[in-house]
Amino acid sequence: LLQPSRSLTAEAMAAAGQSQDDLKRIAALRAVELVRSGMVLGLGTGSTAAHALDRIGDLLRGGDLRDIVGIPTSEWAAARAAAAGIPLTDLAAHPVVDLSIDGADEVDPALNLVKGRGGSLLREKMVEGASRRFVVIVDDSKLVPRLGGSGLAIPVEVIPFGWALTLRRLQNLFDGTPGFNLKLRTASINAKASAFTEKESEIEPFVTDNKNYIVDLFFEDGIHGDLQAISDDLLRITGVVEHGMFLGLATSVIVARKDGVVLMDK
Ligand code: 5RP
Repeated sequence: LLQPSRSLTAEAMAAAGQSQDDLKRIAALRAVELVRSGMVLGLGTGSTAAHALDRIGDLLRGGDLRDIVGIPTSEWAAARAAAAGIPLTDLAAHPVVDLSIDGADEVDPALNLVKGRGGSLLREKMVEGASRRFVVIVDDSKLVPRLGGSGLAIPVEVIPFGWALTLRRLQNLFDGTPGFNLKLRTASINAKASAFTEKESEIEPFVTDNKNYIVDLFFEDGIHGDLQAISDDLLRITGVVEHGMFLGLATSVIVARKDGVVLMDK
């Protein structure tokens, strides 16, 4: 297991007394220090990545960065990056990405991630998987001993056609797992909530940028076992497009804590 490898005392002082959003910004600004002129960037999604996008825009406007192009990981990231003045491109034009910067919902000690509680896991995994370097930015509330261990969902993106059958197959995969539960994500429910109360007949599914649905998997005590084997099992179900476990993809994780910034790397 990897341990935090570096602690920065100046940032420790800066981080003291900061809000969670301040910590997200501290992690994001630290990651943007890795951006160089001429890079192809993967542009992350979420409230932490927003700070990075805004900062990259500031540096471009100020002339400290030049010739950057970015590949957004969601429609939201495309809009935010465009507003920040970051020129956009795509994976067809740039199949190799120099650096991706994105948040995460959970980070385990081996730098495996859960992503996609914002619903953007498929494009995130495509862009970040095509990156030479993928730097994750989080506040320390995202650190977990085991994926799924925060009691929140591991998302699975599924094709709308036959989604109820796909959901049953997902249920079968984890039959007998104590404390396991799953639910189609709905448009009206906060994706980060673990309790769903709507009647099936009233379901209005959450729709991803790719026009797919999300099934959220809940594990009372986190997901146990061989994560790669579980990933393979999930992806073997017809109707499953992708899942939100990012295994072995992160190059490093910048963690902002009240007592300082810690870099976890491989
Ligand atoms: C979106 C994601 C986000 O990166 C993740 O949800 C973290 O979001 P935030 O920075 O707002 O906590 O995976 O699909």
